Parts: sequence; C-alpha cells; structure tokens
Amino acid sequence: MRVTRALPSAAVVASRLAGAGCIAPAEEAAELLAAATDGAHLEELVARREQGEPLAWVTGYTRFLGRKVRVQRGVYVPRPQTEILALRAIASLPAHGIAADLCTGSGAVAAALLAEIPGARVVATDIDPAACRSATENGVEVYLGHLGDPLPSDLRGLLDVVVAVPPYVPTDALRFLPTDARDYEPIRALDGGHDGTDVLVRVVRAASRLLRPGGTLLLELGGDQDALLAGILTRAGFQQPTRLEDAEGDLRGIQTVLLDR
Ligand SMILES: C[S@@+](CC[C@H](N)C(=O)[O-])C[C@H]1O[C@@H](n2cnc3c(N)ncnc32)[C@H](O)[C@@H]1O
Repeated sequence: MRVTRALPSAAVVASRLAGAGCIAPAEEAAELLAAATDGAHLEELVARREQGEPLAWVTGYTRFLGRKVRVQRGVYVPRPQTEILALRAIASLPAHGIAADLCTGSGAVAAALLAEIPGARVVATDIDPAACRSATENGVEVYLGHLGDPLPSDLRGLLDVVVAVPPYVPTDALRFLPTDARDYEPIRALDGGHDGTDVLVRVVRAASRLLRPGGTLLLELGGDQDALLAGILTRAGFQQPTRLEDAEGDLRGIQTVLLDR
C-alpha cells in the first residue's frame, strides 16, 4: 500500500522558509505548494530552498514581465531589474524586424520580445549548453557559442535590435551577491572581470557588426560602467548612450543607436 504524506499548511512551510532566512516566505511557500505533487515532493522542494538553492530552480520557473519562464537548474535566474531593458527592446523592435538577445540565459528577454512582437524574428545566443536548453524550452531560436559568432551569417548588418545582459559584476564584488546567486549560479553568468566590463566591451564590438545603421543596442550594466564604456561605444560607431535608471535612480542599463558610417 502506498502511503502519501499530507501537505503541510502554507503557514508551516512559510515559517520554515523564514527560519532559513528567506525574505518573502509567504510568497515562496505558495510557489512551493503549487509546484509540489505530494507531501514527499514538497518536503524535497522545501529542503532544497532551505539550503539556499534559487527558488526558480526548485519550482522550475520564474516570472518575467508577467509571463512564466522555465529555468533549468544551473541557469541564471532572470531578474526583475532586467524588465526595464526588455521593455525598451520591445519598444525599439519594428513589427517585422529582427532582434538578437546575446547572453540569453533562459531566454527570458528573447521570449518577451517574441510574445510582444510576434511578426519579428528573434535569435539568441549563449555559451552555456544548459542555458541554450532552457531558452529552447521557452520557445527561443537559440545558438550555442560566443556572443554573435554562432548566428546565421546572413543576419550580419541587418539587425534592428541587439540586447544583452552579459556577466557584468566586477570580480571583487562577487562576494557581495546574495547567497543564492553567489553559491549556486554559474560564475560565467556573473563575473565580468576586473571592472565588470570584459564581456560588455565584446558585446559592443559584436553589436556594431550585427546591427543595421540606425539599429538599437541595449545593454544591462551598473555602477559607473556607462562611463567606462563611453570610449569604446564611440569608436564602435555608436551615438552617446541614454542611461536607463530604476525607480531609485540607480543605473540599470544603456540604450544607444548605431550611426550611419
Ligand atoms: C547575467 S546572465 C543573463 C541571462 C539572461 N539574459 C537574463 O537576463 O536572464 C549572462 C549569461 O551570459 C552567458 N554568457 C557568458 N559569457 C558569454 C559569451 N561570451 N557568449 C555568450 N553567452 C555568454 C552566460 O552563460 C549567462 O547565461
């Protein structure tokens, strides 16, 4: 005879999560209860979250711009702060345009573009096979490899939008990240090198080859990285960028346009 364990109440789960240091225990308890198939499964999910594993890996998904995005274990979890960039990308992409999401991770930004601009073509790349599998699950046309390199060559110089959330945390600042990011997420999704701009610089160069004149480049970054990129953007043929700030006035990204050369 199979004994199925009864599900504990949301309050019991929330109190365990609060004890483990979760900052939104009631919301997380509701997510875990919704994801669990029975009592034993719930126990496994709660234990993983108590250990600090990202909630999205435990439940298998997160929400981005209100839509469910599947996130496989080992793949960077899309952040609410990236929604600013995704909304700008949506606003910049013509109805039948072409966009590339470089460093796509789970494909959250690319999937949002596809959902909002269904007549557009959206391609994406990532260097991590697990990220590419997640992006595929989210319906994204994704290519495995370094930045723009694996994209079909006939797209070069034709793109309307290039958007990227590359690794941009300065190496020395990685230790200040929240535990679930620092201890679980892959280092190559986060570490941007000495001042955090190693991959950002390469994205700028790749975007100048991929975009059509007048095409839009959107990059997530932080701190004073807009100033650090100013020279490379000019040399790569881009206009002076606009700063994208969050509600607190913190820098979250830049938007710029490739000039006609
Ligand atoms: C910060 S995550 C962003 C993922 C996704 N865009 C998002 O916002 O959820 C950075 C991603 O860049 C990928 N990556 C790092 N270096 C790369 C490279 N040289 N070429 C392509 N992808 C790269 C990592 O594997 C990771 O998935």
